Amino acid sequence: MSRNIFDHLLGNDSLFTNKEVLHHGFIPGNLPHRENEIESLVHNLVEALQGQIPSNMILYGQPGLGKTAVTRHVCKQLLQRGATLGRTIHTVEVNCCSVDTKYRVLAQLANELSDDSRKQVPFTGWPTDKVLERLKENMESLGGVHIFVLDEIDHLVKRHGDDILYPLTSLNYELRNSRCCVIGITNDLNFTEMLDARIASRLGSEDVAFSPYNSKQIEDILMQRARAGVREGVLEEGVIKLCSALAAQEHGDARRALDLLRVAVQKADVAGEEIVSTEHVRIAQNQLQFDQMTPVISGLPFHQKLVLYSILLNESNGLTNISTGEVYSVYQLTCQNASTTPLVSRSIGNVINNLDSLGLVTSKTTSLGRYGRSNRINTCIPKNINAISIMGESDEAMKPVINATYRLQSRL
Ligand SMILES: Nc1ncnc2c1ncn2[C@@H]1O[C@H](COP(=O)(O)OP(=O)(O)OP(=O)(O)O)[C@@H](O)[C@H]1O
Ligand SMILES: [Mg+2]
Repeated sequence: MSRNIFDHLLGNDSLFTNKEVLHHGFIPGNLPHRENEIESLVHNLVEALQGQIPSNMILYGQPGLGKTAVTRHVCKQLLQRGATLGRTIHTVEVNCCSVDTKYRVLAQLANELSDDSRKQVPFTGWPTDKVLERLKENMESLGGVHIFVLDEIDHLVKRHGDDILYPLTSLNYELRNSRCCVIGITNDLNFTEMLDARIASRLGSEDVAFSPYNSKQIEDILMQRARAGVREGVLEEGVIKLCSALAAQEHGDARRALDLLRVAVQKADVAGEEIVSTEHVRIAQNQLQFDQMTPVISGLPFHQKLVLYSILLNESNGLTNISTGEVYSVYQLTCQNASTTPLVSRSIGNVINNLDSLGLVTSKTTSLGRYGRSNRINTCIPKNINAISIMGESDEAMKPVINATYRLQSRL
């Protein structure tokens, strides 16, 4: 057979034995260092196997800490045990980031509980009460205990308020032939503060907080995945340690660690190398930072780009801990070059807060005693990312701003 350009990545010489295992969608059969969290879920959900109603729960924790993986793992085992014990249990998971209106969440719950195509709730168009009625009908006709997992629930509540949670957490008062338990998952640690007190107390009767993994724990997680997905002996010593240490710095994020390891192995694979070194991890780290930051910078609205550019200009002029006033005076110059009217100075604080929440700058308020308060602003964009060229390439209107010359004042 003649050689094909895909062969070197397909053949036995790939460094991966099963790349899918290193993807974050993959859920391994056991989840090291989540024994306590799993036990909390099991403790509550066992009620479904005993003919009782499990309490509603909220699972908290920063991104990549295994909340979704743990919940899926526990639900899978629950369904398996339910089947052997002859208990009727249904689990439905909805990701509220992609299904993000009350109507669509209720419709998805209802539709997943019915395979009768004539009974499907349409994508839009029904009154919400009718969708809720259909959901109840479907729950009753199947019977048993229904576990509804609302993943990334804070997205839904932030956009549309918490009204969906009231009917969902009230279902048990109305159902005759079935029961329901809601598990909300969120990485917003202040989630319950967004909720009406009655809903918060109904939903959060059992809270489970996921703590960040430390570097040693991430190593264990990576070793398990590497054994299943990467050829034996190709990871140089220190590769897993470095991926784990870098991910531990980012709030102990196992997803980040898996990404680093997968991209590092891929970089070595594509380069036709036999060994994955810590250098490949560094390259992977740069690549991931670039992939993460580029859309954030290029997607900024125009005036936010101008403000970010003004902070960068101040920094290139040797300033650090820049004040809002210093940003504003350069921003006014950038507006002249862009032939646009500047925002009023008091809006700049909001723009800077937004840049801070996107992880592009840090802004700290310091007290000047009786002289009031002042902001100290610094960018925190990794050095390998050229934010100015990203802004120029993503927005024609930035070009005259970037090409202009600025006579900036330095501090006395
Ligand atoms: N204890 C663990 N053992 C093995 N893999 C894990 C463990 N914890 C997390 N992972 C893996 O890390 C990745 C991220 O986990 P998961 O998606 O569950 O995070 P999450 O807490 O739901 O994050 P987010 O809040 O961003 O949704 C997944 O690939 C998951 O398999
Ligand atoms: Mg998740």
